[in-house]
Amino acid sequence: MPIYHKLGKFPPKRHTQFEKPSGGLYYEQLFGTIGFDGMSSLLYHVHRPTQVKEIGEAIDMSPKIAEAKHIKSRKLIGFDVAPKDDFLESREPMLVNNDVQIGLAAPKKSMTEYFYKNSDADEMLFIHKGTGTLKTFLGNIPFEYGDYLIIPRGMIYQIEFDTEENRILYAESFHPIYTPKRYRNWFGQLLEHSPFCERDYKLPQDLQTHDEKGEFLMKIKKQGMLHHLVYATHPFDVVGWDGYNYPYGFSIHNFEPITGRVHQPPPVHQTFETSAFVICSFCPRLYDYHPKSIPAPYNHSNIDSDEMLYYVDGDFMSRTGIGPGYISLHPAGIPHGPHPGTYEASIGKTKTEELAVMIDTFKPLQLTENAMKIDDGKYYKSWLEDPSDSQKG
Ligand SMILES: [Fe+2]
Repeated sequence: MPIYHKLGKFPPKRHTQFEKPSGGLYYEQLFGTIGFDGMSSLLYHVHRPTQVKEIGEAIDMSPKIAEAKHIKSRKLIGFDVAPKDDFLESREPMLVNNDVQIGLAAPKKSMTEYFYKNSDADEMLFIHKGTGTLKTFLGNIPFEYGDYLIIPRGMIYQIEFDTEENRILYAESFHPIYTPKRYRNWFGQLLEHSPFCERDYKLPQDLQTHDEKGEFLMKIKKQGMLHHLVYATHPFDVVGWDGYNYPYGFSIHNFEPITGRVHQPPPVHQTFETSAFVICSFCPRLYDYHPKSIPAPYNHSNIDSDEMLYYVDGDFMSRTGIGPGYISLHPAGIPHGPHPGTYEASIGKTKTEELAVMIDTFKPLQLTENAMKIDDGKYYKSWLEDPSDSQKG
């Protein structure tokens, strides 16, 4: 996150003595990314952050692949994913490759018995249903419907839900998740043509410092394994920090759509980028205003990227038979486009209320066993103009 942020107290000069009121020193930690080359923060702990007491079991969290190579368009009924009490157990990977694991979760309970850290991947949690607080060792971020939560790898966190009705789309990215470079100046400030600005970010707040000793379970994801470590001190013991590496939130409702006289291409919806995929927000907006414009998209050949769309709310203009929580996957290799009737029906419409999140990956996505359970199985025939053709073969 290229904005300097700070919470709590820290010494005026980095790497110098920072004395506790009770005597002794606070323990400084440089929390960097990309070696010493990326964004970093400097943290000050009450206790050494290295006090491992026990290392317990390691559980293999690797997704189970059902179809690694395929060319079929898919429709997954996302709300058919069964709710589960535990946040991590509720996470079901659906579409995966070596760059990203995209999944759905319907957790019912807050995380209170353990702490969690993903050391493999930056996490993006998109909150479709539910409210609560992302609690981290760098401060808290309240969240609600429509929030993206970006959690850089290594952040220790817990998640607290206000109710049991929660639905989350998530992506675990093995590449750092940034905002699009073309919207930032050479220094990192968002430019005037960016569809969002720094004021829209939800930065960590309300830093809580726990000076506690005991046994604290931390589940750490590394190389696809979930390791169970017991620490001797409370992981949320930071008294202050400053820097650029921290979790943050951004509401999809604060994305200001870019519109034009004729149909605008998907990159205008781009919200985040990595070196391997992009995340786009399709938001309510006015339609194209050329007198002969066709608001629905043209057919397009995503020949070198897979396109995954997660439908959040509203009417999705170019699709039929789509509801909230559905995922469509348009794989690379074949073109796709509006469903029969929607192209013509879009003419003359002045606005859309659609709300969706799109993830386009440059490498093909594999389908997991979880995905096959909620696949409608016939979506790939949904573009046929003669419905009776769909009964054949
Ligand atoms: Fe598309």
